[in-house]
Amino acid sequence: MKNPTSMIDIQRAPQSKISETNFDNLVFGQVFSDHMMECDYKNGEWQAPVIKPYGPLTLEPSARVFHYGQAVFEGMKAYKDNEDKIWLFRPDQNFERINRSSKRLAIPEFPKEYFFNALEELLKIDKDWIKKGFGNSLYLRPFVIATEAGVSASAAKEYKFMIICSPAQAYYSGEVRVKFSEKYSRAADGGVGFAKAAGNYGAQFYPTNLAKEEGFQQIIWTDANTHDYLEEAGTMNIFFRIGDKLVTAPTNDRILDGVTRKSVLTLAEEFDIETEVRRVSVQEIIDAAEKGELKEMFGSGTATVINPIAGFGYKDQKFELPKMEDSYARFFKDKLMKIQYNEAEDKFGWRYEVK
Ligand SMILES: Cc1ncc(COP(=O)(O)O)c(C=O)c1O
Repeated sequence: MKNPTSMIDIQRAPQSKISETNFDNLVFGQVFSDHMMECDYKNGEWQAPVIKPYGPLTLEPSARVFHYGQAVFEGMKAYKDNEDKIWLFRPDQNFERINRSSKRLAIPEFPKEYFFNALEELLKIDKDWIKKGFGNSLYLRPFVIATEAGVSASAAKEYKFMIICSPAQAYYSGEVRVKFSEKYSRAADGGVGFAKAAGNYGAQFYPTNLAKEEGFQQIIWTDANTHDYLEEAGTMNIFFRIGDKLVTAPTNDRILDGVTRKSVLTLAEEFDIETEVRRVSVQEIIDAAEKGELKEMFGSGTATVINPIAGFGYKDQKFELPKMEDSYARFFKDKLMKIQYNEAEDKFGWRYEVK
């Protein structure tokens, strides 16, 4: 096999935009670093990856992605420690997941060497965009789109795999209150819920807007058949602390297998926190809240790591959660971030250095 690193064509941006960027006032996902990675699939194979200045694409209006939503993506972050070393957190998981997503959307899988070599080259060339300090990171957005022109409703024969990078700060999203869905569904059995398929997200905006009008920030999706069981949030898996037990739904073909979720479960085991991975019913959570046994709810995901939930609503009932001194949400966030920022021992081999 050809050496993938030497195959990467690197075209440097003539001028960096970094001095125009205010790193103290970043809006998530609005500013992008100087370079991006682009790799085309044509004639039955992935071509050599290219790193080039971040900029617009030119596509045929008939490109399949615009018509049939053949698009998948990932979300991951690069961190810088106090010695300027660059780290990724379990990137193998994101790599495997984008290929699982691709497979479900009939998109050809991407070679591992291309992914890691191109990502590392991209991070090295844009390393100044990764700021030190707990909470600062470079958000990485790998994605694949069907670029083949022509509106026949079938899988494309041409694609683009890209990675774009956006500097991110630790952000406090304010108090989050969630609505348990009683009507709309995010995913169904046999569907694409487990994949990071673009359409899964587009379909959530309308019900989420309705929930926002009622004063909630997010929806917790329930199973499509009965709406009796809690599954996950829009971009987070969801945990419940009932007494001192941590409960979360099992992953299946409707729920995204979150990297943060599985890391929380591993840490819980390490620190002897009792966990149950099982279906969680809406009624059980309402009963626990009414009895004062529901101590916490939190979401887990790459963007905020752990996002505490202050309250929830179901039909016309509203519940507030207590403020815990010994919060599991804070505990897991701190443990995970210390591993991500190379400030704690990496017992499970989750850190990946970019050198
Ligand atoms: C639907 C959904 N669930 C859960 C997650 C959390 O996954 P992760 O922890 O891998 O970021 C995400 C974000 O990637 C998501 O989009």
